[in-house]
Amino acid sequence: MNSQELINKYIDFFKQKGHTLIPNVSLIPEHDPSVLFTTAGMHPLVPFLLGQKHPGGKRLVSNQRCIRTTDIKEVGDAWHNTFFEMLGNWSLGDYFKEDTIKWAYEFLTSPQWLNINTEKLSVTVFAGDEDAPRDEQAAEIWQETGIPKERIYFLPKSENWWGPAGKIGPCGPDTEIFYDTGQKKCSSECKPGCSCGKNCEIWNLVFMQYDKTSTGEYKELKQKNIDTGMGVERTLAILEGYENSYQTELFKPIMDLIEEKLSGRSQDYREVSTSPEKAKKIIADHIKAATFILMDGITPSNLDQGYVLRRLIRRATLQAKLLEIEKKENVSQQVANIVIDIYKERYPNLLDKKEFILKELGKEEDRFELCLAKGLKVFGKIIDKNRKKISGQDAFHLYDTYGFPIELTQDLARDDIKIDREGFNKEFKEHQKLSRKGAAKKFKGGLADHTEATTKLHTATHLLHQALRQILGDHVEQKGSNINPERLRFDFTHQEKLSPEQLEQVEQIVNEQIQKALPVKMEEMTVEQAKEKGAIGLFEEKYGDKVKVYSINDFSCEICGGPHVKNIKELGEFKIKKEGSGSSGVRRIKAILI
Ligand code: GLY
Repeated sequence: MNSQELINKYIDFFKQKGHTLIPNVSLIPEHDPSVLFTTAGMHPLVPFLLGQKHPGGKRLVSNQRCIRTTDIKEVGDAWHNTFFEMLGNWSLGDYFKEDTIKWAYEFLTSPQWLNINTEKLSVTVFAGDEDAPRDEQAAEIWQETGIPKERIYFLPKSENWWGPAGKIGPCGPDTEIFYDTGQKKCSSECKPGCSCGKNCEIWNLVFMQYDKTSTGEYKELKQKNIDTGMGVERTLAILEGYENSYQTELFKPIMDLIEEKLSGRSQDYREVSTSPEKAKKIIADHIKAATFILMDGITPSNLDQGYVLRRLIRRATLQAKLLEIEKKENVSQQVANIVIDIYKERYPNLLDKKEFILKELGKEEDRFELCLAKGLKVFGKIIDKNRKKISGQDAFHLYDTYGFPIELTQDLARDDIKIDREGFNKEFKEHQKLSRKGAAKKFKGGLADHTEATTKLHTATHLLHQALRQILGDHVEQKGSNINPERLRFDFTHQEKLSPEQLEQVEQIVNEQIQKALPVKMEEMTVEQAKEKGAIGLFEEKYGDKVKVYSINDFSCEICGGPHVKNIKELGEFKIKKEGSGSSGVRRIKAILI
């Protein structure tokens, strides 16, 4: 059977049971800002699960593309994929437990449909807790239907509860159907629900009868719904007798390509990469997911879906590097080409977007390449400094300055070095909050954020201020600044346009200072003391009793809230990009550090 045949069978089966086919929608949820991606077929149905009328009626069926990144660490094992297709059927306040269980059993085991040997199947049901009772009813229905008691397992909420997809919304206990792959048990405790891969979950039937509220309560929904999800890749693999989803037609041509790149090579890469088998799967999985995210219109960035996309591309690129596949081989673009070929009939949009997808992949790889070598050096230093642990700050530094997503640092650190993920998350959240503000254009003046890049440009602004005073005179006063990680903008009082010579002199003075590798000193003092010291003060700034004064040797001395670098040698090279007029009598300079 191929994937399209499986999808057709599922849809036909449920159409025969009175269901309406609904469209396979974008990976980017249209009406739900609480989640980044469509993670299940139920996603577009949330309002209808809560009671709104669906134009397709009360019984719906679909094949839905999905992205799940919560399982990203598991990618590379037999069954977890970042991108997958999910078959699902829904009852919006119509049929409930009995029909859904009986139909699932019929579809899986009937010779007319999937014809799976019933002895290979086992199920789990909800064991009950303070939010909902033990699901004896589901267990009884399973027994009546054909699953013997010894293959029915009661498990807690962590295993047998689904949703809500975001923080609030429809959810409920579920029953999950597992297929025994015939592999050895990983331990005597191994049973469905264990992640070792012996039992593969192929279908989840959710009894969606609760609404989780913002206070954490589970309120009974007015209508009792059914929400199910069957993984296409997994089901196809077990139907074809494969050991994992990478052997199915949905991955095999990609795996063959990567294998081809490695064949006939020296085996050196096996020493560089901790697990070449896993690395190959990560490349295939992540580039497939990236291809679809790009198809749905997202580009790599440091925010939200764009950041997930960036992480996927960079992680795959790093794995390719560890396998010593050279950049000039354009492996991600080649993989994307194959993905497009595999899925082009189901997703004709892939063909329309092909050029965009390939171009964006290439661009992101180039950007990553630029920071990778430097980042690897810094990573080496961090490890030398502290062999057992990477602090949240160091991990964030690698992210912020060298573009290393945390998973990538984790991959490099392997299992023997601990990373302070919590510390990283804290730094990251702070950063996101600030960059959201930036995106909302709330930011008019001052610093866009406190990232390392912005901090460096802030220190450079002090040098620039002083250099301008030296070249143009003491009338030069700061009239405003706007600094983000990319560039600084500095407004100052001066009547005429600066000549190219003057600009060159200013640049030269700043760079000479940087080369002196001077420390930046901070002292706290009263405003009077600061004035006495000759500090220049920023206009309109509200000062407290004590102010901070930042000085760079005897070159620059300013009242300022910071932050600044420790030593100006960190700044690199200063370059003025533009000089123009601000308002009358005010000039504006834009500059960068390279
Ligand atoms: N919404 C059911 C599932 O994703 O398993």
